[in-house]
Amino acid sequence: MKTILTGLRPTGNLHLGHYFGACQNYLKMQDDYEFYLEIADVQALTDHFNDPMKVRQNVYEITMDLLSIGLDPKKVNFFIQSKIPEIAELTVFYSNLVTVARLERNPTVKSEIAQKKELFGHHGESITYGFLGYPVSQAADITAFSGELVPVGDDQLPLLEQCREIVRKFNSIYGNTLKEPQQVLSNITRVKGLDGNEKMGKSLGNAIFLVDSEEEIQKKIMNAKTDPQKIKKEDPANPDICMVYYYHQLVNKENVSTVCSECKKGHRGCVACKRELIQAMNDFLHPIKEKRKYYEQHPEIVKEILETGTNTAKKKAEETIKKVKSAMKIDY
Ligand code: TRP
Repeated sequence: MKTILTGLRPTGNLHLGHYFGACQNYLKMQDDYEFYLEIADVQALTDHFNDPMKVRQNVYEITMDLLSIGLDPKKVNFFIQSKIPEIAELTVFYSNLVTVARLERNPTVKSEIAQKKELFGHHGESITYGFLGYPVSQAADITAFSGELVPVGDDQLPLLEQCREIVRKFNSIYGNTLKEPQQVLSNITRVKGLDGNEKMGKSLGNAIFLVDSEEEIQKKIMNAKTDPQKIKKEDPANPDICMVYYYHQLVNKENVSTVCSECKKGHRGCVACKRELIQAMNDFLHPIKEKRKYYEQHPEIVKEILETGTNTAKKKAEETIKKVKSAMKIDY
């Protein structure tokens, strides 16, 4: 049985971008693989080291989100990164195998640094050693569990490439020890934001969260970007530049061809179209929220799921660190 490893930073709740971009694949894959799902609190701290309570709270929030979409804790090992010190050890060992220049060239890191500069001005330029090095720590996350398949969104591809480079370098110096992971992309690799941005993101303020209330959903969809050329109900419009149509494609699949043709012909007003989407979105989110309520009422069950998963994960990481230390001649 192949091993799956993936991770999420606990910095906020899951939104549709996570769901369609990556989590749908977790759901498909949970039956057939040995599955480790890391709540990457240490990685979240590289960015949020000055807000530890936020990271701590979100460990439980994101675990509840993941359970509520239907991941089965009997099939998936949910674990907390900071509870596996072997990952931190591997990070130190791998840090010798990566140059600073290579990290600075990593496209994901580069765009995150650019975003920080935009948000924080000159403060954004003080990048920490920990932040620059998080791809190394992510390579440790994956290899600690001999992760072979890594379901992710396409923004993570440069991190996987960097992981493979570290694995090859390690194996070439210390002998064949680690496995090269492969990404698993979903057919929707990136979900657009309410404002029409190519990417939905919490920090971009354009996301629909799985936990959003019906009032929030209504407000967000009513304000979503539509074809600016369409003013009156009878104006024909271009659905391809309309976010309302875009989300119909995700959560209202049965009716999407009607939505499209009526919109193009000017037989459908934007307000009615938005109302229909609000209904479809709420129908889609309803069972997820119902499931979530159960875990909200039973926090002890969430804690137990994390504890059990972390124990299993720890055993696996201990096996890896033994092999790694022996290969590196530090198995005293
Ligand atoms: N970097 C990922 C993100 O921001 C989270 C993550 C941490 C991850 N460790 C991982 C993803 C290991 C895949 C594999 O979403």
